[in-house]
Amino acid sequence: MTASPAVKTDALPPFLAACRRQPVAHTPIWVMRQAGRYLPEYRAVRSKVGFTELTRSPELAAEVTLQPIRRFALDASIIFSDIMVPIEGMGVALEYAPGPVIGEPVRTMKQVEALRPLNPAEDVPFVMEAIKLTRAGLPAHVPLIGFAGSPFTLFSYLVAGKPSKEFSVPRAFAQAEPEISAALMDRLADAMIVYLRAQAGAGAQALMLFESWGGLLGPNDYRRIALPPVKRIIDGLKDLGVPLIYFANQCGSNLDSIATLNADVIGLDWRTSLGAARKVLGPSKAVQGNLDPAHLFSSPADLRKRVDEVLADAGPGPGHIFNLGHGIWPETDPDSVAQLVDYVHERTAK
Ligand code: CP3
Repeated sequence: MTASPAVKTDALPPFLAACRRQPVAHTPIWVMRQAGRYLPEYRAVRSKVGFTELTRSPELAAEVTLQPIRRFALDASIIFSDIMVPIEGMGVALEYAPGPVIGEPVRTMKQVEALRPLNPAEDVPFVMEAIKLTRAGLPAHVPLIGFAGSPFTLFSYLVAGKPSKEFSVPRAFAQAEPEISAALMDRLADAMIVYLRAQAGAGAQALMLFESWGGLLGPNDYRRIALPPVKRIIDGLKDLGVPLIYFANQCGSNLDSIATLNADVIGLDWRTSLGAARKVLGPSKAVQGNLDPAHLFSSPADLRKRVDEVLADAGPGPGHIFNLGHGIWPETDPDSVAQLVDYVHERTAK
């Protein structure tokens, strides 16, 4: 059965209601990287196919997207793919080891100009196919989230050429070559607008932008460099009418800038207090987060205390989606996730 994104307000699944800051029967919860290596059934699929092949097979991508939904009472699903998939679609050769490694890091204007403008239907049709298959396999009350990387986060991987803790190479590059950097992020913003629109067209009921590395910038650089292309993407999606989520990793110092975005939901990591963030973000935005992934290694009793702290910090008002503050770690015991999901529901049931 296919759920229409235009279902009547009173029938909204809790996740979509919370995105719109409407009252919910329980606080909805999903987990970043919920389809992944902590699940034995994901590892079983991955033992047979490489990561790239998995992202390019609509059937397998739909299967691993549905795996955590079968196991846990999650309130949302996120399509299995990667932020670098559309980058390959723009003609950049890369592989995963397990993070993305770029064949030839992009550092010249010539390379920027050689990037193909993304045509989702031609360059990454398998993503939209996977969205359609997944939507058909999901229960009606579990919405499907589509996603993309933010321009600065994608820029970081393209310029650095490989994962990095500090991303000093792209940060220095942004200072040394502001014009090439702006041109690259401009192209990435254009591509992510058409990419996210295509995902919504295929059935994604919310769209999320991952700002994994913009938080490495100071507040002035964040506002000058990372924020403008994000604003352009969000404004370019607003007419779709689906909730827009901006995951702002390590962006506690940038909340005043983030408050100016037209996003519906701001995702926060555990270093930022949800309550303090809500004061800066104002009543027009919902928040998502922000349990430290390390807390899934606590005893069950301590895990419940840590969940209570997150809920108390978020406060009693509407517009909180429970999540981790960043992706779940591969070493996590799936039973901890079951305890987390069930406890959030039990504790917040109205
Ligand atoms: O369940 C889900 O969350 C959906 C799938 C998803 C993946 N990557 C699968 C994946 C999503 C939403 C992403 C987003 C992503 N990819 C981000 C933004 C989120 C974040 O973590 O900040 C980033 C920065 C990337 C880039 C990337 N891809 C990295 C850093 C890695 C290595 C990750 C790791 O955990 O080691 C990848 C590869 C990747 N993407 C894996 C998965 C499940 C591990 C691949 C494997 O099976 O070997």
